[in-house]
Parts: sequence; structure tokens; C-alpha cells
Amino acid sequence: MNDETMTYNYTVVRQFAVMTVIWGIVGMTVGVLIASQMAWPAMNFDTPWLTFGRLRPLHTNAVIFAFGGSALFATSYYAVQRTCHVRLFAPKLAAFTFWGWTTIILLAAITLPLGITSSKEYAELEWPIDILIAVVWVSYAIVFFGTVATRKVKHIYVANWFFGAFIITVAILHIVNSAAVPVSLFKSYSAYAGVQDAMIQWWYGHNAVGFFLTAGFLGIMYYFLPKQAERPVYSYRLSVVHFWALSFTYIWAGPHHLHYTALPDWTQSLGMVFSLILLAPSWGGMINGMMTLSGAWDKLRTDPILKFMIVSISFYGMSTFEGPMMAIKTVNALSHYTDWTVGHVHSGALGWVAFISIGAIYFLIPRLFGTEMHSKKLIEMHFWIATIGVVLYITSMWISGIMQGLMWRAVNTDGTLTYSFVESVQSMHPFYVVRFLGGAMFLSGMLIMAYNVFKTIAKRQPVVATIPAPAAAH
Ligand code: HEM
Ligand code: HEM
Repeated sequence: MNDETMTYNYTVVRQFAVMTVIWGIVGMTVGVLIASQMAWPAMNFDTPWLTFGRLRPLHTNAVIFAFGGSALFATSYYAVQRTCHVRLFAPKLAAFTFWGWTTIILLAAITLPLGITSSKEYAELEWPIDILIAVVWVSYAIVFFGTVATRKVKHIYVANWFFGAFIITVAILHIVNSAAVPVSLFKSYSAYAGVQDAMIQWWYGHNAVGFFLTAGFLGIMYYFLPKQAERPVYSYRLSVVHFWALSFTYIWAGPHHLHYTALPDWTQSLGMVFSLILLAPSWGGMINGMMTLSGAWDKLRTDPILKFMIVSISFYGMSTFEGPMMAIKTVNALSHYTDWTVGHVHSGALGWVAFISIGAIYFLIPRLFGTEMHSKKLIEMHFWIATIGVVLYITSMWISGIMQGLMWRAVNTDGTLTYSFVESVQSMHPFYVVRFLGGAMFLSGMLIMAYNVFKTIAKRQPVVATIPAPAAAH
């Protein structure tokens, strides 16, 4: 065995970890810009490629796939090697996943502002890019499962089950939902029509939430939280039970995005019922994460990375309580089309996804660059500014969303509408300003992180991450 085979492959982990911070800043800057446009429409500067309609998908693609995706690649490549006691399988293919994914993101950043879109939410990219995504994703699967298959430890740690389910499901969702008939290099039409198209789209959309924004990040939770807290997972059995329950249940809940549409009524009810059931496995994960800290709660006082992780798990619990409530048809009759949905989205996306990613990246950076973090105080500062930012974002959206819903349905005794649409828009204005401020705070936190990470990398030392001899504990 030479040095190459005795140490872990951190190159690709480093690349994705650093890009997580950079893409986070890019995606959230676009988020803050579109938030400002909703408060002050002149912020589109009368420029077509800066308009809300084009930048909104750029925001969602950048934060979900570039920021969230890079965090998932970095953490899964790190965790799978460490828990399997083996280097990444097919290192050249692993390097290809980094360059391929980066190319996809750059292509998205060019095509979306130009207005080139398939107009399917969270799947806006046109067919040539879709093919590249499929190729990169299958390569990712080969690297990940190849590493698991060549492991030196008998047991497959639960984090790898979550990462594995995320990788397989996203491949299936992407390939099925992106099936299209191309008419030119930049234009295609969905292979499905009418209500079937809508159902396939939200089967994809909801499971993108369930597997991209949830299962993958639960993988992060199950590896990085016990490591940072220096405690074992509270209940390993619960982690396995909620893994299977979550995987089985999520796949049926998509129709809750299509309440009161042409979708058959029984399908809508099925989606509602499965969404309600989903509360149980979701909270199984949340409780398991929280309880992992039992006996170590005191660490929260001094450890800002742990603070990021625990607040993230609280937001996971909160958004997975709110989601099932919003899936009840009568509640959805009020919430749908309003900012309440946007508040729900960001309590999951900022509170859960971004917080757990930030915690994991702070865990990784010193280990990947062989040094301590430049400043713990700055991590603490990042934590507080981000927490206040999320709270401002989601509370303003809740109030404005519920107000919108109530104003739209208010009727006078003679049956006419109490408010015109523009009156509801006017009432939203102060809340859009608060959301913009909350977003700007969250973004400032990311800039503090970037500075801290940059300073840390500047004093990096060579890392020798030796793989334990077979049969040693991990
Ligand atoms: C038990 C778990 C969850 C359930 C049952 C659930 C349910 C729902 C419901 C009913 C909607 C509104 C659909 C509509 O009126 O159009 C929604 C929207 C959404 N949720 Fe959740 N949610 C859950 C967890 C989460 C989490 C953890 C995240 C993020 C990490 C998330 C992200 C989203 C997104 C992005 C949308 C907006 C989709 C769109 O219209 O573009 N959800 N969810
Ligand atoms: C600085 C932080 C952020 C700001 C200011 C921000 C702002 C926004 C704004 C203004 C919208 C459009 C809402 C609308 O159409 O009414 C939006 C949509 C969205 N954002 Fe963000 N965002 C931020 C971070 C994130 C992150 C980190 C994620 C995911 C990990 C995310 C995921 C989404 C999604 C999925 C939607 C579509 C929601 C829907 O269709 O209901 N955002 N964001």
C-alpha cells in the first residue's frame, strides 16, 4: 500500500466545501435582490434579465442545487469514506462530479437570466443540461455506492442509508420528470400533457423536498451531529425505523401541491393523508437528533457549531409540523398562493437546510485544511445574525400570507369582495421590507462565514488523514 491508498481523498471534499460557501452567497444575493424587487419593483432596473420572473428560478436553482448540492456532495464524500474506512471509489469519476456539477451551475446561471426555461418548477433547465445532470448524477451514484461496496467495515452506518436513498431517488425523479421532446437546442416540450404533467411535476417537486432537501440533510445530521456533540446517536433503532418510514411515506404526498385542481379528488385526499402520516417519521428524526444531545446540553453554551445544528433540527421539526397542517385541504384553501407557503419553504430551506449545512461546513473546514477555524467569535456572530434573519423572514411571511388569504376571501353581506387585489398588495409592502431585511441579515452572516473560511484556509497545513487498519473502531 502506498500513501495514496492509506489516506482519505479530501481533494473533492475540499472543492465542494469551499463552493458551498461561494454558491450560498451567490444564491442568497439573488434571493435578497428578488426580495427587494417585491418591496420596490424598480429594483429590476427595467432590464429583462434582471426581472423577477427570470431571477426567481435562478435563486431556487442556485440555493437548492448549487449551495445545497455542494454541501451534500462534500459531506457525503467525507462521511462515506470515514464510515467505510476506505478511499473514494473511482477518484477520477469523483473529480468529474465536481467539474460536471460546476459546469451545470454555470450553464444555469447563463440560461435562466436569458429566459431559456422548461418552465417546470425546480426543473427549469433545458434538455441538454438535463442530460448532463443525469450523467453527473449517475457518476455520483457510482462513486458513492462503489465506496460503500468496497468498505472495510461490515456495518453500513445510517448516514449512508440516507445519502444513498437521496442519490437513488433524485436520479429517478430527475430522469422521469425531465422526459421531453426537444424542438431545438434551447426548447423542449414535456413528454406528459395536462393533469398527468402536473402530477409528474409535483411527484418530482415534492420528492425533491423529501429526498434532496430532507433525506440528504438527515444524512448530514446523522454523521456530523454525533461527531460535534461527541455523543452516540440517541436511538440507532429509531434512525433505521424512521429511515424506512420516511422513504415509504414521502413518495405518496406530492398531490398536496395540487389541491383543488383538475387532479382527481381521491388523489388529492391520498396526498393529504400521506402528508399527515409524514409527521411521524419526520418527528422521529427530529427527536432522535435532539436527544442525541442528552447529557451534552451544556456544550450548547460554548459551541456555536452545535448551536447551528440544534437550531437547524428545531426548524426541521417546525417545518415538518407546518407542512402536514398545510396539506389539509381546508387549511390549504387559505394558504395556497399566499406568502405562507414562502414562509414554510424558508423555515425548511434557511432554518433546516442552510443551518445544518453551515454547521457541517464549519466542522469540515478545519479538518480539511489541517488547522483551527480562524475565529470562533465570528462563528458565534454568524449564528446570531442568521437566526435573527430567519425569524424575521418567516414571521413576516406568515403574517403577510395569512393576511393575504383572509383578504382575498373576505366578502361583504351583498356577496361582493371586501378588498380589491391591489389593496392586498399594498398591505403586503411592510412585510416585504421586513423579509428583505431578514434576508440581508442572513446573507451578511454568509459573508462573515466566507471571511472566516478564507482566513482559515490562508493558514492551512498539510493534512494526513490516515485510514484506520481493518477491524479498528470508527
Ligand atoms: C412532513 C413534511 C412536509 C410536508 C407534509 C409539507 C407540505 C407542504 C405543503 C402542503 C405545501 C404547500 C403546497 C401548496 O399549497 O402549493 C408545501 C410547500 C413547500 N414545501 Fe413543504 N412540507 C414538508 C416539509 C418541508 C421541508 C422540510 C421543506 C424544505 C426543506 C419543504 C419545502 C417546501 C417547498 C419548497 C414548498 C413550495 C413548493 C412550491 O410551491 O414551489 N417542505 N409543503
Ligand atoms: C438570503 C436568503 C434568502 C432570501 C432573501 C430568499 C428570498 C426568496 C424570495 C424573495 C423568493 C420568492 C418568493 C415569491 O415568489 O413570492 C424565494 C423563493 C424560494 N426560495 Fe429563497 N431566499 C433565501 C434563501 C433560500 C435558501 C437557502 C433556499 C433553499 C435551500 C431557498 C429556497 C427557495 C425556494 C424553494 C423558493 C420558491 C418558493 C415557492 O415556490 O413557494 N431560499 N426566496
